[in-house]
Amino acid sequence: MYVCVCKGVTDHQIRRHVSDGARSWREVRETTGCATQCGKCACVAKSVTREAIKSE
Ligand code: FES
Repeated sequence: MYVCVCKGVTDHQIRRHVSDGARSWREVRETTGCATQCGKCACVAKSVTREAIKSE
């Protein structure tokens, strides 16, 4: 599903960035552009990132 509509970022993409080595929300945000426009997705995107990092 789309987490970030503005930048077209999916939860799958976030998980992939984490399995490719991203270890923080900041890294995911910088590489995907997620939450850099309206910012409404930040909360959900952060929790998807945290969950993905935890399960690494
Ligand atoms: Fe992610 Fe707008 S929905 S920046």
